[in-house]
Amino acid sequence: MIAQLLPTEVVAVDATLDPPEATLFPEEAEQIRNAVEKRRLEFTTARWCARRALAGLGLPAMPILPGLRGAPQWAPDVVGSMTHCNGYRAAAVARTSDMAAIGIDAEPNDTLPEGILESIALPQERGWVRQLMRTAPEVCWDRLLFSMKESVYKAWFPLTGRELDFEDALITVNPLARTFRARLLLPASALKEGDPTGFSGRWSAGGGVLVSAIAVPATVPATVGGQQNAPYQMLVGSAA
Ligand SMILES: CC(C)(COP(=O)(O)OP(=O)(O)OC[C@H]1O[C@@H](n2cnc3c(N)ncnc32)[C@H](O)[C@@H]1OP(=O)(O)O)[C@@H](O)C(=O)NCCC(=O)NCCS
Repeated sequence: MIAQLLPTEVVAVDATLDPPEATLFPEEAEQIRNAVEKRRLEFTTARWCARRALAGLGLPAMPILPGLRGAPQWAPDVVGSMTHCNGYRAAAVARTSDMAAIGIDAEPNDTLPEGILESIALPQERGWVRQLMRTAPEVCWDRLLFSMKESVYKAWFPLTGRELDFEDALITVNPLARTFRARLLLPASALKEGDPTGFSGRWSAGGGVLVSAIAVPATVPATVGGQQNAPYQMLVGSAA
């Protein structure tokens, strides 16, 4: 499911079951020593996916430990991202020579709990979410918006080492092409040289799961209007 959302330079592996043969390195196991079973399983299977993905890049199995603010620590020449939700786990990795950042996120295709949309969505985003909830109710657009923002954060944080709030990214979606864009709303004073000012990504829905994915090429600025954001018609919530 996830590999189709990412460029060929990215190796992505997903799983809908927890393989019994999945194991952890001792230092990884230490990280979840006191965790409940659900956490152990998602942590372990995401790393099983990651090691298979790393093997696809020709790299050996290695521990993948949580680093600053929980961001996974990859080998120096690797970028990647992991996600897990009920019934779905995934990892995506690439060489830093090809990609500057990857952000992936999976969520159940269920509507957000009451009140959450208001806390994560900008007014313009609430507008397209409500419209699409009426016209294409097979996708929980509120949850998909949440997933896209999580993908943005997972790409942003390893690139910059800085936090990003939900109101800092304005998401627009193309429901037919299954693409999305994030325009960062940070004031110029909050941006440092080389920071991305936007991201573009792809999304999918299937098997009760929503997945969003962003891959930032190493050689192209991650800005809206950059080459990676080749123009496409924004059908809903167009803001770019
Ligand atoms: C960290 C966060 C993005 C994780 O997303 P989630 O939907 O809760 O959980 P997922 O299962 O999809 O992803 C978990 C994985 O994200 C990765 N992750 C955690 N913190 C991360 C960070 N700071 N940067 C990048 N990746 C991170 C880890 O690999 C983690 O898996 P692991 O704990 O097994 O190693 C989320 O909990 C969070 O803190 N969000 C607030 C910030 C935010 O989203 N802002 C919106 C900006 S528009």
